[in-house]
Amino acid sequence: MVFPSRRALPGLRSFIALLLALPVLGLAACSGGPSAEAPAASPTTGEDAASSVEATPAPDAAATALYADDQAERGRRVFQDRCSECHYSSEMRGTQFQWVWERQTVGDLLEHIVRTMPEDDPGSLSEAEYLEVVAYILRLNGFEAGAQALAGDGPALTRLLKAPESSR
Ligand code: HEC
Repeated sequence: MVFPSRRALPGLRSFIALLLALPVLGLAACSGGPSAEAPAASPTTGEDAASSVEATPAPDAAATALYADDQAERGRRVFQDRCSECHYSSEMRGTQFQWVWERQTVGDLLEHIVRTMPEDDPGSLSEAEYLEVVAYILRLNGFEAGAQALAGDGPALTRLLKAPESSR
């Protein structure tokens, strides 16, 4: 969640620079996200829920799709090739995944995966592949696909990962 090292990975320097240039909305979300209806067992609710710092910028943001379906489909194959050796796709959705990620943003997840995954060779995927795999994880969490692909510098990166109610 906190990344003390700002060292860019080889070949991804400009990508990381874009990520770092974003406001640190994820941290604001951590300290007081809109988590009032989070499960009671969630470790970071309680007092934090009293303040209502919104990480989602636009009121109509919920209507905006975050990724394109073909992008998520390519991400499914990237996941099979590069991630499934250590992860089941079912780990990237559901209650436990949501407890960790629902107060963080799409950009936080992207940054986390770029910096740390695959664990045995972090930063080894292309920017497009990292975006595809995040699009796939969004699909797994029940977000709808739209016309626009997820981009490394778009407004979708500031959106919270909290899954739509129907798919929790
Ligand atoms: C060589 C094994 C390995 C590979 C390959 C790998 N991971 Fe991981 N991954 C790990 C380990 C170990 C952790 C840390 C688990 C922990 O600390 O909770 C982890 C954690 C994660 C987390 C955080 C999980 C959570 O619930 O917070 C995500 C997201 C993730 N990996 C995504 C990926 C993606 C996407 C890929 C493919 C691009 C990938 N990983 C490839 C071993 C791997």
